[in-house]
Amino acid sequence: MDNVTFVADIGSGSIKAEVAGADAPRIIENVVGIPKHKRIMPSLSASDASLLTGKDIERRGLFKLSNPMFHGHVRDARGFQLVLKQAVAQTGVEFRDHPFLLTEAPNVNRHQRSEMAQFIFEECQVPALLFAVQGVLSLYASGATTGLVLDIGEGVTQTSPVVDYYSLRDCARRVDFAGQDVTLFLQNMLRQSGCFLDTSAECSIVRDIKEMHCKVSSTVRRTDDGNKSSQVRHMLPDGHEIALSNDAMYAPDLLFAPSLGGYEHPGLTAIVHETIRRCDLDVRQSLYQGIFVAGGTTLTEKLNERLISELAKDTPKNCRLKLHAPEGRRFTAWTGASFLAQLDSFKSLATKRSEWEEHGERILNARLFA
Ligand SMILES: Nc1ncnc2c1ncn2[C@@H]1O[C@H](COP(=O)(O)OP(=O)(O)OP(=O)(O)O)[C@@H](O)[C@H]1O
Ligand SMILES: [Mg+2]
Repeated sequence: MDNVTFVADIGSGSIKAEVAGADAPRIIENVVGIPKHKRIMPSLSASDASLLTGKDIERRGLFKLSNPMFHGHVRDARGFQLVLKQAVAQTGVEFRDHPFLLTEAPNVNRHQRSEMAQFIFEECQVPALLFAVQGVLSLYASGATTGLVLDIGEGVTQTSPVVDYYSLRDCARRVDFAGQDVTLFLQNMLRQSGCFLDTSAECSIVRDIKEMHCKVSSTVRRTDDGNKSSQVRHMLPDGHEIALSNDAMYAPDLLFAPSLGGYEHPGLTAIVHETIRRCDLDVRQSLYQGIFVAGGTTLTEKLNERLISELAKDTPKNCRLKLHAPEGRRFTAWTGASFLAQLDSFKSLATKRSEWEEHGERILNARLFA
């Protein structure tokens, strides 16, 4: 247990992993692929396996790709284990020698936590393990003792309110709706303008288009602008150029108004207000003053500006609103976890393998850092 801790922020789109104390995590895509075609030249490499990860699926069009984790839920345990093993291998650590700190979204299915622990303790022989909730870790990374984290990732949007180091976890909100839903919405918009990017590999092209060109509009937009083309053009890998319609360019508006895509989820502004209203009256002011955004989707152009202007409309008059958007916000959950893993108290928080053998999942749930 003296060895440095392996820290992994487990996300629906990617795992951010490195040993505690490193400058930054590595990003390992949480994706597996099954070859779509028959390989004519036998090879001794891993490429012979039916389920592949990492470098083996670099030429993406050859594979049917899927995410072992969907909206924060593990739906393919074998695929997930393969990706986690790859993350561990990339950091050069041995499972047996290092305690593990893994992140999770709020209100995770306990069965999922227990299955993951079983794999880590029993198959990988890891000496100690702690699960910690992503939003709380992001606040930890910021150095603030009070604040509300809004983490918008690939599959999950979550809030975590913390006051004077007390985590108000019963007031936290989790909505399984995030960047991936914007990607699918954009895919539909592109289809409507005659650009069909439908296969699993082409979906990552749509994601690239989203990250490069799409933004949030400054106000609620009516979609009656005749779908005129914006000036934005994108070159596809085959050299073909497409023009993005205005509706496509503003696809991330979906996060503020999920009903645009026929979803029932609340929008971002409502999620933040609802979280704060669940908290006691006397702490609300401090939470409005310390909203921290985290997760890759908060890198969307103009998202934070729209959020603050929409929040302002419904924030009580006596509350000052302040939104913090740190530069490295896609990795703040990992950074907070890395800080936590380096504290002396980490040793008492983590569950040792012998304790797991004696008490099972009960002890893991009791020690959850949330
Ligand atoms: N520059 C960018 N602009 C817009 N979106 C971005 C940008 N960079 C990343 N994203 C989006 O952020 C999402 C990934 O974020 P993140 O890595 O925080 O998710 P995750 O941790 O894998 O998933 P989750 O926490 O939701 O389970 C993807 O939807 C990706 O398209
Ligand atoms: Mg995440």
